[in-house]
Amino acid sequence: MAKTIYILNGPNLNLLGKRQPEIYGHDTLEDVERNCRAVLAEGFDLKLMQSNWEGQIVDWIHEAREQACGIVINPAALTHTSVAVLDALNTFVGPVIEIHISNVHKRESFRHHSYVSMRADGVIAGLGIEGYEAAVRRVCTLAA
Ligand code: DQA
Repeated sequence: MAKTIYILNGPNLNLLGKRQPEIYGHDTLEDVERNCRAVLAEGFDLKLMQSNWEGQIVDWIHEAREQACGIVINPAALTHTSVAVLDALNTFVGPVIEIHISNVHKRESFRHHSYVSMRADGVIAGLGIEGYEAAVRRVCTLAA
């Protein structure tokens, strides 16, 4: 059976492609999913999810404990605020890669701190949606 990678996306990323395209680009989450499928290693599958609700992200991380071999997460604004998402990720055994489409370090200072980075095995920022593909490749390596 294929090993499944969860790709979790936080608040407002449902509007990817429409929202502040000068920062986040014109590609959508459907494009992200298609590109990520193209780089999956043999024996891996993925499930891409998005929610505007913190508790839903926490629930999916709990689900990942049973169902996923690794997590790629763009927590969006929850990156900078959510101890709950960090605590949930700390219950997950397996690789976790944090990804941001924009270079958060070049932006407002409140975006410079990430709770999720305290758990992440790798952090990607500023590669646009290509960052998701790099993250998926890395999870395939770490979970092989
Ligand atoms: C983001 C960066 C966050 O600061 C922001 O709140 C987002 C998206 C990114 O992908 O660049 O919603 O995670």
